[in-house]
Amino acid sequence: MPWLTHLAMRNKALAAERARWIPLASGVVLEIGTGSGLNLPFYGSNVRKLYALEPSELLRRMAAARARRARMPVEFLAASGEAIPLPDASIDVVATTWTLCTIGDAGRALREFRRVLRPEGRVIFVEHGLSTDPLIARWQKRLTPVWRRIAGGCHLNRPIDRMIVAGGFAIEGLECGYMRGPSLGAYLYRGIARPGPRG
Ligand SMILES: C[S@@+](CC[C@H](N)C(=O)[O-])C[C@H]1O[C@@H](n2cnc3c(N)ncnc32)[C@H](O)[C@@H]1O
Repeated sequence: MPWLTHLAMRNKALAAERARWIPLASGVVLEIGTGSGLNLPFYGSNVRKLYALEPSELLRRMAAARARRARMPVEFLAASGEAIPLPDASIDVVATTWTLCTIGDAGRALREFRRVLRPEGRVIFVEHGLSTDPLIARWQKRLTPVWRRIAGGCHLNRPIDRMIVAGGFAIEGLECGYMRGPSLGAYLYRGIARPGPRG
């Protein structure tokens, strides 16, 4: 599965999204589900430190080579997004790309993002999820139970924007749409979210 993840995530359309959104990160950054480290070359020199959280040991090893070539110090966290081993309000930016689809308890992970973010922090997200096209959405819902089993827990049908808001964030900029024409995993949600007022 880690090798399949690496091969699936390594394509030009995804690289274009990485090139657009990852350079917006600055300060102390926490990346959730770093995978094989395909975002690492896109972080700019205004990132002081990167925490690369990745539960899979093999993917962490694959990312280590890219981490050595990165512009900033990279510290790997062998952990899951649902239990982030960092103190409260210690992070400027949480970056998540194609990971909220896979995290088992994404609601809990989003609450963890909020806990570790400084009050003025940001979440940068590029995620695939539930399409606004009713026909595609129906197939996404129908196929997710099977797809999850063969694709390492990936859900095709998560309403990413609503999940982020339910996690206590306000979305500042949201761009939705298909990456390369309609298909089950191509409807993207990209944008920036900030912690909302605490309830
Ligand atoms: C489709 S891959 C995306 C990898 C990378 N973010 C990218 O853009 O290439 C999904 C990633 O989520 C990670 N993952 C799975 N469950 C997770 C969890 N509970 N917390 C954090 N990451 C998780 C996987 O190990 C994998 O690296």
